[in-house]
Amino acid sequence: MNVLVVGSGGREHAICWSILKSPKVTKVFCAPGNAGIGEIVDIVNIDATNLDALLNFALQKKIDLTIVGPEQPLSIGIVDLFRSNGLLIFGPDKNSSQLESSKEFSKIFMINNDIPTASFKSFSDYILASKYLKESKYPLVVKADGLAAGKGVRVCYSHDEASEFLKFIMEDKIFSTSGDKVVIEDFLEGEEASFFVFTDGKSILPLDSSQDHKRLLDDDLGPNTGGMGAYSPAPIVDNETRKNIMNEIVDPVFKGFKKDGINYSGVLYIGLMIKNKRPKVVEFNCRFGDPETQPLLYRLDSDAFDLFYMTAKENLDNYELKWKKKSSITVVMAAKGYPGKYDKDIPIKNLLDFKQKGVTVFHAGTSKINGEININGGRVLGVTAEGDNLKEAISLVYDSIRMIDSDNLVYRKDIGKKGLINFY
Ligand code: AMP
Ligand code: GLY
Repeated sequence: MNVLVVGSGGREHAICWSILKSPKVTKVFCAPGNAGIGEIVDIVNIDATNLDALLNFALQKKIDLTIVGPEQPLSIGIVDLFRSNGLLIFGPDKNSSQLESSKEFSKIFMINNDIPTASFKSFSDYILASKYLKESKYPLVVKADGLAAGKGVRVCYSHDEASEFLKFIMEDKIFSTSGDKVVIEDFLEGEEASFFVFTDGKSILPLDSSQDHKRLLDDDLGPNTGGMGAYSPAPIVDNETRKNIMNEIVDPVFKGFKKDGINYSGVLYIGLMIKNKRPKVVEFNCRFGDPETQPLLYRLDSDAFDLFYMTAKENLDNYELKWKKKSSITVVMAAKGYPGKYDKDIPIKNLLDFKQKGVTVFHAGTSKINGEININGGRVLGVTAEGDNLKEAISLVYDSIRMIDSDNLVYRKDIGKKGLINFY
């Protein structure tokens, strides 16, 4: 089978790495990829949002399956375009992708289907939104309605902070038209976890749990990022909590899809806030998480290509999901300055020589210049390790990171720590 993976992050590197293990896969292309992906498959210089060029490439190379990593191509209809040209593609269509591309759409879906989530109000008028902020209690959460690369949300602890962020979104338009509307919602207390459910539109397949670390700094301080590290499984999702997630969230979501005519196919990312074993939905994403994909695919013991292929083929019922009895962890190394401004084209010395048993370095923002790996984006590397338990995985990943040139990179030192607290 010929496969095209769309995207250029650590998630797409992990997808390429895992499907290459399948005997069914003959050739993998990745567009646009990164330096690490280029070490294992053919990279194609087409942007992930250049749908016509991607379609022409897929037709020309007789691609049997396209796997879409990021949200942008999904939100502008890559799945609809490929399907209407007779191509098999993994991911939800444009209509279903609104669950991520419009926070208002997703909140209305949740309220209509009795899915536990924070109460909210949405506004397209700046004056009315400002007035609401004046009358509200704090903390509360202000969100740009549209896609904003993980930067469109701020938990606000005072009226001043909320008014400032609202102005950035609606008046200064820092997220362009993604800020035409805002969602303002109650603050949820608890601990976050990520829960992924594959569906082919007929059956559903929930994965094991994982936990991301959204804030830049240790102890969940500092600004929100795309995610600074993740591990799987996450002990906060114990058997009782998992049952509650299935009964109180996953079941009503899929009933809601039927009722509301949403033909969802692909993987649904359910961002959860959990308190006293009761889950509430923080957000839906219509794709695999980054960095959660890396530790999840690291632990997957069944054929990863089949997981994507059988989902796209509407044959998921026959997929047998198996996990290694291991814990896995990814620690993100980011460019100094991320999520703000940072310098590019700085070499990470001797990275290509790094080898450690049980450890894989997935690349995100990297390029290759004169045979050396360089920084080319905010999140740069995702160092991924596995161990017989979380404690072992944590010590292996941090021992490995100490061997990597981190002169120009930053990383959190406490990835997985919450898992140890919940476990013991
Ligand atoms: P989102 O893009 O909606 O997932 O928001 C990004 C991050 O902001 C989440 O991962 C949470 O850490 C935080 N967040 C969003 N909504 C809420 C909420 N209602 N209560 C508490 N934290 C939130
Ligand atoms: N890890 C957060 C995300 O993929 O949105």
